[in-house]
Amino acid sequence: METNTEKKQIKRIGVLTSGGDAPGMNAAVRAVVRTATSLGIECVGIKRGWQGLINADFVMLTRESVKHILPQGGTLLYTARSEEFMQPAGRKKAVATCRMLGIDGIVAIGGDGTFRGAYELSKEGVPVAGVPATIDNDVDCTNYTIGFDTACNTALDCIDRLRDTMRSHERCSVVEVMGRNAGYLALYVGIAAGATAVLVPEHKYDFQKDIVERIQDSRLAGNSHFMIVVAEGAGSAVEIGNRIKEALGIEPRVTVLGHIQRGGSPSARDRETATRMGYYAVRALHEGRFNVIIATREGGIVAMPMDEAMKMKKHLQMERYRIMETMQLGGLKNPTEIP
Ligand code: F6P
Repeated sequence: METNTEKKQIKRIGVLTSGGDAPGMNAAVRAVVRTATSLGIECVGIKRGWQGLINADFVMLTRESVKHILPQGGTLLYTARSEEFMQPAGRKKAVATCRMLGIDGIVAIGGDGTFRGAYELSKEGVPVAGVPATIDNDVDCTNYTIGFDTACNTALDCIDRLRDTMRSHERCSVVEVMGRNAGYLALYVGIAAGATAVLVPEHKYDFQKDIVERIQDSRLAGNSHFMIVVAEGAGSAVEIGNRIKEALGIEPRVTVLGHIQRGGSPSARDRETATRMGYYAVRALHEGRFNVIIATREGGIVAMPMDEAMKMKKHLQMERYRIMETMQLGGLKNPTEIP
């Protein structure tokens, strides 16, 4: 863990979940509460994210009140996206709530929108620690975000089921997965599913080369069913389906997996990571290392100073994309692309 020592002693913390929910958020809340109480710090659960902090919408949390939540999907604290908190007047109200409830620091569990809010709040003098949780895995300062593994497994399970029926009917399936502007979910799932083609926003696709020829290669190799995975940020699965019909005269079936990817009991990886991240978030506040985001880097967990974390940029590893192409029946179209 990195250091950035400041002095204020933390006696009571607030914990909230904000933005899109992710499996493992409850595990992180539990870890925050149990770590805090072990250190003699009281815990206030802020309901409905930053909006709840504005509205003083809270519940006191004890070691007992978080029992049984470890395997539960969703978030017991509820979640929301708050426009009001993005305005200085909204944040002033949130600071007033902290004063009124005697909250010395906040652990904010969520994605990059949550952390933009946390960063602004920290500038008003409220110490914060961020715990990254989003199925999109698109928080720049961390290799991994809580919920990603569970969402990948959920999407993969759906795709495996789709494949059964596509194979029986010798059809083409176009599946849209979430991920907002990022292709992590689509690429991981596409590799794991052995998809015929995968479209991600980070790679500008050529419809003829990346879809039509992939389906043709697969057909020439003897396949009669095809699985196309589309990241929502790369385009609409419905449109891709229509274009495939026009180009190849086959009638794809389109499935938009949607919010089903956000639900379900967190995987072992998500429960374990959430527990460690929640633990380190409280430790950071307790030790006076304020305004950090807990991040996984090179196998370990670090507390990144927010000033630094907010400037970082993460990129989809294009090598993974090439590995995905290498596995396809037509292989890499341009082998010199392998670094
Ligand atoms: O950020 C998580 C996420 O599920 C994205 O993948 C998706 O684009 C978005 O949230 C959907 O948001 P909402 O829950 O508001 O429909």
